[in-house]
Amino acid sequence: MSDSASDHALRRSRTISSFERRSVAIDAYDVPGRWPVLGHIVPMLRRPLEFLPGLARYGEDVVRLRFGTLPVYVLTHPGAVREMLVPGDRAYKRGRIFEKLEPALGKGIATVSGAEHHRQRKMLQPVFTRERIANYAAIMGAAARETVAGWCDGDQIAVDTVMNDLALTALTRSLFRFTASPETAEAIKDGMHQLTRGLLLRTILPTAWESVPTPGNIRFRRAMARMHRAIDDVILDYRKADQDRGDVLSALLAARDDDGQQLSDSEVHAQVMTLALTGIEAPGAALGWVMHEIGSNPDVARQVRAELDAVLGGRLPTYDDLERLTYLDRVIDEVLRMHTPLVFMRRTLIDVRIGNTTIPADSELVYSPYLLHHDARWFHDPYRFDPDRWLPENRRRIPKGAFIPFAAGAYQCIGKLFATVELKMVTAAICANWRLEPVAGAEVREIATALVRPNHLPMTVHRRNQAGASS
Ligand code: HEM
Repeated sequence: MSDSASDHALRRSRTISSFERRSVAIDAYDVPGRWPVLGHIVPMLRRPLEFLPGLARYGEDVVRLRFGTLPVYVLTHPGAVREMLVPGDRAYKRGRIFEKLEPALGKGIATVSGAEHHRQRKMLQPVFTRERIANYAAIMGAAARETVAGWCDGDQIAVDTVMNDLALTALTRSLFRFTASPETAEAIKDGMHQLTRGLLLRTILPTAWESVPTPGNIRFRRAMARMHRAIDDVILDYRKADQDRGDVLSALLAARDDDGQQLSDSEVHAQVMTLALTGIEAPGAALGWVMHEIGSNPDVARQVRAELDAVLGGRLPTYDDLERLTYLDRVIDEVLRMHTPLVFMRRTLIDVRIGNTTIPADSELVYSPYLLHHDARWFHDPYRFDPDRWLPENRRRIPKGAFIPFAAGAYQCIGKLFATVELKMVTAAICANWRLEPVAGAEVREIATALVRPNHLPMTVHRRNQAGASS
């Protein structure tokens, strides 16, 4: 850090925890270390998981980076993030990262803004009600049971892949009521994987780079084409069958707008793509991290198993059991704190003021759950896995907006309840009868995509004896 930057950090460190509006508005603080032409592209791409959380050390609520020459404002204080997210869609629309998704996803709920977003959200809301999700829980539990049915004591498995597959099965069977053929499942998984993997790069680099025929760009285009064909086939099957299966795709095909018009195939396609992206990658990665953290922290594992044994007594969980698994809740919240999405963006529609900082219209803003969740001001020793942070007496001390794995406001995760039930149900169904141990010497690291996923997760599975005697 330069001298002026460290002076600055020192000056601000006295007031860093406060988020208050003063009478004088200021311009955003420019993060030092900018390269000519490239701006902050190099540290953003080389070590995003250190660079982004490191921005909190300047003690500013809003700091300015450059992606090349493009100014990007990063909100580093929970108060600032809430000020942007909670009023929702009046002063902001989706930002650059969502524009990069649109060519692949189309105009589905996760890429549109304002009134169109409101319309689509209303249309999808009925499939995410608590009653529906209670029914999906049984499907999720059954998917977990099928997965472990193929395991033998002592097998070594790639838990990241297995959990991603499980998330795909849970989504397609609950929201879409179909079991994907192996080819369709593969096309969707590969497409979604390429999409999230390349997203950060495409957001940070200038748009022209996307037309360069690099091996990565070619792979990306092929994967997208294959996935689009697979989803078109699914839609065609549904249209041909012309029957209400009581799922989200039947509802989309039956939907009419105010003029009585059906949704076009491309509108239905966009919604299916969006749900497949949001509903597989994030919960798949989170499930992998849950298994990893339970497997790597013996004391946590002991408490998880003790609770499962006490509540379930060796049987498999039902939806009604979930509320009694309170320790597991804390484990899952801690996973969602530590291994959480890295970057989301908004664009200002008008000049705004966040805290003391003025930001002009048409500016790109970043908020990062990962940054907020690793800030030692709100989470002591933030890189330590500690479910007890979420004991009621400790939870109370965490400021509003510091823990936002599912965001807040108009664009917050519509699948929040679906995801939390899925994480609990699958973990309980697996850990009730199986113990997953990390493979010695296999170093597990976080890889930054738009999400934060493990580089790999090899684990050995051991069957527990039913009395719960094995810890
Ligand atoms: C651990 C799992 C998950 C995490 C951490 C997560 C996180 C998020 C976050 C942070 C957003 C807001 C992005 C923004 O501010 O722009 C979001 C949006 C969204 N999520 Fe999730 N999500 C998860 C699982 C799911 C699941 C399982 C589904 C569907 C079944 C889903 C569907 C969506 C949709 C459709 C949106 C866009 C909502 C809108 O714009 O109205 N998510 N998610």
